[in-house]
Amino acid sequence: MKLPDRGRPWPELAAELQAAKARDYSWRQGRMAVYFYYLDAALEQVQKDAYLAYFTENNLGQGRAFPSLAKLEGEVVAMALSLMAAPQGAGGTFTSGGSESIFLAMLAAREKAGRDRPNIVIPATAHLTFDRAAWYLGLEVRRVPVTADFEADVPAMAAAMDADTIALVGSAPNYPYGAIDPIAALGALATQRGVWLHVDACVGGFLSPFLTRLGHNLPAWDFSVPGVTSISADIHKHGMAAKGASLLLVREEALRRFHRFESAAWDRGPYVAFTAQGTRPGGAVASAWAVMNYLGMEGYTEAARRIMDAKARMAAGVEAIPGLEVLRPSPHAIFIYRPTDPALEMGRIAAAMDRRGWLQGQMAGGRGMHHHLNPLHAQVADAYLADLRQAVAEARAGGDSQAVGRVY
Ligand SMILES: Cc1ncc(COP(=O)(O)O)c(C=O)c1O
Repeated sequence: MKLPDRGRPWPELAAELQAAKARDYSWRQGRMAVYFYYLDAALEQVQKDAYLAYFTENNLGQGRAFPSLAKLEGEVVAMALSLMAAPQGAGGTFTSGGSESIFLAMLAAREKAGRDRPNIVIPATAHLTFDRAAWYLGLEVRRVPVTADFEADVPAMAAAMDADTIALVGSAPNYPYGAIDPIAALGALATQRGVWLHVDACVGGFLSPFLTRLGHNLPAWDFSVPGVTSISADIHKHGMAAKGASLLLVREEALRRFHRFESAAWDRGPYVAFTAQGTRPGGAVASAWAVMNYLGMEGYTEAARRIMDAKARMAAGVEAIPGLEVLRPSPHAIFIYRPTDPALEMGRIAAAMDRRGWLQGQMAGGRGMHHHLNPLHAQVADAYLADLRQAVAEARAGGDSQAVGRVY
């Protein structure tokens, strides 16, 4: 395909864009439990309108051209710091997503430690973003097996450390199993060894505080834990903002200098960046700011309540199907089940669900069917279970098997 010689009318293109989605799985009908977060039409309008209000503004220019964006970003960071029990003097940076937040945390830890052959010690359940960051940043990754409860094994992590360890990592929660690592024990270890502790709360940062409000008993994971140096928390996940919004929060504002780039090695004058991006979408900041103020503590708590309602109903429904079991219920929005009957192959269940339009997240090695629930799933839990009952019956009778899909 070539760039057309002459432009085409927008209505024609708009129709083509809509038509292009015809073969995609339908997130609006809750047909997948990965890749999207959705509360309701009113919030969707807030996300879009706020984004459009700053559609053209470039957040690279917040220092000079667009001081309003500096103010909005500062308020987003401040709201998140207070939500996550940060002490006076803490700081933060608005990034494009969890990956960038984690990259910057690992960069800062590396720069602060200044080792020749740096390594990071992480639980085996940590997100693969840490391996990507390590690849970019020249770090060795030491993945340490977790406990039977899928939580970080802190003594084993201590044993994996050496003088070149620049950071420890804990997840709150981890993505594969939804378990929260023992952050307090990791904080004590990090303090004792004098290393950076990063808590990956990309999934949990904007959900855990509201689960706690609902009465769920979660282990401490935020800045209230001594030894936690930084936290990544994604506003474009359970923070419900438009995509392209995450935060890297640090216990002390001064730590931000370790991921600050500055150079004047060209003729255009000095250039400063705290992120991997140069040009940054102002819309992402405006959307995050608007969504946080629109929902407030009450709105987020209601979203959390709907997720846990969906999870409870799905768990009860799955447990009632002979041959399936729910994997150690995670305290979070992650929900996993697996076959207990050797005659039931997970790939066949996935194929039968796929035929009904559900995109399934199979775990490697038949470990389970993975769902990361959001509020929309409360509306489709019954439809999901009805299809699952049929899919299991079909899978017992044979049929094709779906391979484990990539997360991409
Ligand atoms: C626990 C965790 N950390 C980090 C990430 C990476 O975030 P992003 O996809 O926004 O770059 C994810 C994404 O799902 C995640 O679940």
